[in-house]
Amino acid sequence: MGITFYEKERIFKLDTPNTTYLIGIVGKLGFFGHIYYGKKLNGIEGAWELLRVDEDDPSLWDEEAKYRVLFLNRFPTEYSSHGVGDYRESSIRVRTKQGHNAVLLTYHSHRIIEGKPPLEGLPATFGQEGKSDVTTLIITCVDKVLNLKAELYYSVFADTDAIARSVRITNENSEAIYLEKVMSGCLDMENKDFEILSMHGSWFRERYLERKKLGHGKYSVSTTRGGNCHQEHPFMALLAQGANQTMGEVYGFNFVYSGNFLIQAELDQMDSVRVVVGIHPEDFCWKLEPGEAFQAPEMIMTYSSQGLDAMTHSFHKLYKKHIIRSPYRDKKRPILINSWEAAYFDYDEKKLLDIARESAKLGIEMLVVDDGWFGNRYDDNRALGDWYVNEEKLKGGLKYLADEVNKLGMKLGIWMEPEMISPDSDLYRAHPDWAIAIPGRKPSRHRNQYVLDISRKEVRDHIMDMICKVLSSANISYVKWDMNRPLSDLGSAALPPDRQGELYHRFILGLYEMQQRLLDEFPDLLLENCSSGGGRFDPGMLYFSPQIWCSDNTDAIDRLIIQEGTALVYPLSAIGAHVSVCPNHVTGRTTPFDTRGVVALAGTFGYELDVTKLTEEEKEQIKIQTAYYHKLNDLVREGDYYRLASYWQNGTHDCFQVCSPDRRKSLVFYVQVKNPVSFPYQLSRQIRLRGLNEDALYVVKELDLTKEDESDDQQGGKALNGGVLMNGGLNFDWMWGDFQAKLFYLEQV
Ligand code: GLA
Repeated sequence: MGITFYEKERIFKLDTPNTTYLIGIVGKLGFFGHIYYGKKLNGIEGAWELLRVDEDDPSLWDEEAKYRVLFLNRFPTEYSSHGVGDYRESSIRVRTKQGHNAVLLTYHSHRIIEGKPPLEGLPATFGQEGKSDVTTLIITCVDKVLNLKAELYYSVFADTDAIARSVRITNENSEAIYLEKVMSGCLDMENKDFEILSMHGSWFRERYLERKKLGHGKYSVSTTRGGNCHQEHPFMALLAQGANQTMGEVYGFNFVYSGNFLIQAELDQMDSVRVVVGIHPEDFCWKLEPGEAFQAPEMIMTYSSQGLDAMTHSFHKLYKKHIIRSPYRDKKRPILINSWEAAYFDYDEKKLLDIARESAKLGIEMLVVDDGWFGNRYDDNRALGDWYVNEEKLKGGLKYLADEVNKLGMKLGIWMEPEMISPDSDLYRAHPDWAIAIPGRKPSRHRNQYVLDISRKEVRDHIMDMICKVLSSANISYVKWDMNRPLSDLGSAALPPDRQGELYHRFILGLYEMQQRLLDEFPDLLLENCSSGGGRFDPGMLYFSPQIWCSDNTDAIDRLIIQEGTALVYPLSAIGAHVSVCPNHVTGRTTPFDTRGVVALAGTFGYELDVTKLTEEEKEQIKIQTAYYHKLNDLVREGDYYRLASYWQNGTHDCFQVCSPDRRKSLVFYVQVKNPVSFPYQLSRQIRLRGLNEDALYVVKELDLTKEDESDDQQGGKALNGGVLMNGGLNFDWMWGDFQAKLFYLEQV
């Protein structure tokens, strides 16, 4: 395990439990290239051949070699150059004072260290406290003409098949240089007849999966919206021919960043593939004064030889153990009820307390006051930035509300949107230059709001002072941090002309600093990130909040697809999911209450409805669901996730499973979206399970979410063999009607 440098061969071998990554230094000029990424290797003999370079190639020894361009354009480099002959995607591009753009980085030295240095100002993976479970290789390379130093970081984890990469650039020249592009990683490899799996979407339709062939040319996912992005996701997987859920080779890429990103796969004339991952270069330009450094965010790579499930397990494990820091990470979260779909802006303290009183009786543990409690915020046209309680609306303020809610045995949470400013706000009237804008140009509004220039320290401090005051004024246990518009009209009143290109990234650094301050001042706070639903679901945000609101679309059927895409990369413990009323406010669809419960139980769980308006029967079901949450959440949060059937693909039913790490307990979630009437005589369905012990006996019990569960865990179930369940299947009856759910609990006897 770990990282080895083979001096004679000049090869770095990076090992995770099941994978190996090889880098080789070759020739006198310091070229270093990518040799291998795949299944774990026990030795490196013969690995050199994979670089497909002839050691005597003059280009490796002589800068004036006859065919240097040819060489550069096919060498499988670890970090691609710009402007000197490699015409595939570059990893770095600069602008010098003289106006030149070229960069070529060659090997200078390296270090291998135990642990993993934090990335200044950025979220990043880390080793677990008290465990030496991560090792880092730092390759220092230089461009001798520019006097530019690049340190390439590679960290491997002892318990997870993931490699974290990032890059730090230092200007060692005596004059300033502009970085126009700095990718966090580059991977050149052979084409394995790859297909690309990526995610796309929109508001209400986040992270829909899409699979297509990688043809010649470039295919990318990206955003230039400054972060808020439902449309594309900073994830891409390359699936070798024949790979599926359980078999075949899969390379997964994810970016630990919440701003503009680019993940691009390119298939070139040689049938080689280059993947680059990093900050989107559009409108990015970072000035580096002599001696200054730029830290690029971290990208994650995973390799699986056993299909998508194993890729998912690597991401989940990495994020559960090495990126989420919250004290709530390994705990059940309080079951919350959120006021948004219950009341939108139309509430006062009486209405909220009525909801809280009724909720407390049903096992709900926290009231979240969503948008509308501050300033003059009677609708979505005003008051963002005025972070003080509207006491006309909430008599006695949040203090009174929190005290009353606490008396019921519940906690209180609030919503806020700290990165925004409404043109109609006291804040804007006092500081119009605090909005991001270009002089002489009216910034485009979205939801009638502007974006605050949180690249400025005085702006961040002012907002955080206000917010901290609110949070100190009452017993507030939870914050939903929202962000409801993309960035546009990029201009900062505080940055000089040649630093305006830093604004996108400085904005994100500002956001990270603000969230860090919040957590430093309120270490017990449960933070949930959100962005018009699930527009900011990324590992960067998970570093700050253990859960993220997954979508404003709470329709249980649509959520199957949204949660499938999300759970491909992110653990169920991070997926904000609530039960809401029907007809659903987004889709108008009516689904059974227990189906809504089953779908939300596969996430953080909570409610988004006015509980005072429910029927007695529905309230009874809430009691049952909240009891089940307490019984099942440990397994949902900690279990390994398996995708068994996909409604996104088959159009009729959805099925997934979680298994405790010791394989003794499991839950199977099944939703029959449509009764498949084309098989009228087939009365039952068989779903092959995964993750169990082949030789063990399991008691399989169907949980009835409409009735209280009074039996103990194994009573009333059938004892079935693990091998039968995995190789034959779990057999159960079709249900009459659409949108029906089943939930099975399995426990080894
Ligand atoms: C966003 C969120 C919603 C809600 C509203 C409030 O759209 O995703 O859940 O908080 O803002 O304005």
